[in-house]
Amino acid sequence: MKLKGRVAIITGAGNGIGRACSQEFAKEGASVVVVDVNFRGAEETARMIKASGGTALAVEADVADPFSVEQMVKKTVEAFSQIHVLLNNAAVQINKNIEDTTFEEWNRQMAVNLGGTFLCSKYCLPHLKATRGNIVNMASVNGFFVEPIVAGYCATKAGIIGFTKAMAIDHGKDGIRVNCICPGYIDSGLAESYFQAQADPAAARAAAGQLHALWRIGQPAEVGRVAVFLASDDASFVTASQYNVTGGFGSGIAPLD
Ligand SMILES: NC(=O)c1ccc[n+]([C@@H]2O[C@H](COP(=O)([O-])OP(=O)(O)OC[C@H]3O[C@@H](n4cnc5c(N)ncnc54)[C@H](O)[C@@H]3O)[C@@H](O)[C@H]2O)c1
Repeated sequence: MKLKGRVAIITGAGNGIGRACSQEFAKEGASVVVVDVNFRGAEETARMIKASGGTALAVEADVADPFSVEQMVKKTVEAFSQIHVLLNNAAVQINKNIEDTTFEEWNRQMAVNLGGTFLCSKYCLPHLKATRGNIVNMASVNGFFVEPIVAGYCATKAGIIGFTKAMAIDHGKDGIRVNCICPGYIDSGLAESYFQAQADPAAARAAAGQLHALWRIGQPAEVGRVAVFLASDDASFVTASQYNVTGGFGSGIAPLD
């Protein structure tokens, strides 16, 4: 087991990619702190993990709120004493052009996606220093390859790639590794909301697969297994890296038909 004895906090774990990452971490022996602003989703993920013989604790937290994040860390330490891995996965996506995006929507997206990555890192760092642990940030192919009506989301994901590399420089001396994952289209919540925002959601969904060299969109567990690798000792000399889990999307190939 690659993560036996490790304690991992995974945010946005009440659905989609975060849930799949939590399940993959638990399979590899980690005790998983399943964090979500939607507590029912977090509880369901924890229930699924426990039903498979794993260890999980559901915690309700809003990653954009400093007090909530402090409480998340406190509850983790009370339950498991230490923290080895932080997976910053929680995000929201505003599917609108900039003229139609409200100031509140812009600020919330920044506060959750980029601000949440900052806050969770800030409050976990003292504990990660003690364990010489690591951080995995969920960026996106949209951090370097853009698509229509998601300019603010793209900005947050480009920011997460830069933040990942800068944090890796600052904390490498503490033995802390910091990496990010850039998924392509994955069959989960944010991709589905993007399809629903198009004029013909069913056609958009069907066409999305053809953007990928592998001719399909990805499954959440395919991201989870890369997250396990980055969090584990198998990646002991991997830091400041951007792992593209894109099925070839955004790698310079033209859309095919
Ligand atoms: N689905 C894709 O195609 C895709 C592609 C590239 C990157 N990603 C990234 O993967 C991650 C997960 O995406 P997904 O599609 O699984 O999303 P999802 O919507 O299915 O799940 C996101 C979870 O985050 C939670 N969340 C939202 N705001 C929160 C907050 N303030 N505090 C705590 N939890 C909060 C939601 O309640 C939800 O359970 C995101 O970072 C996303 O940007 C997704």
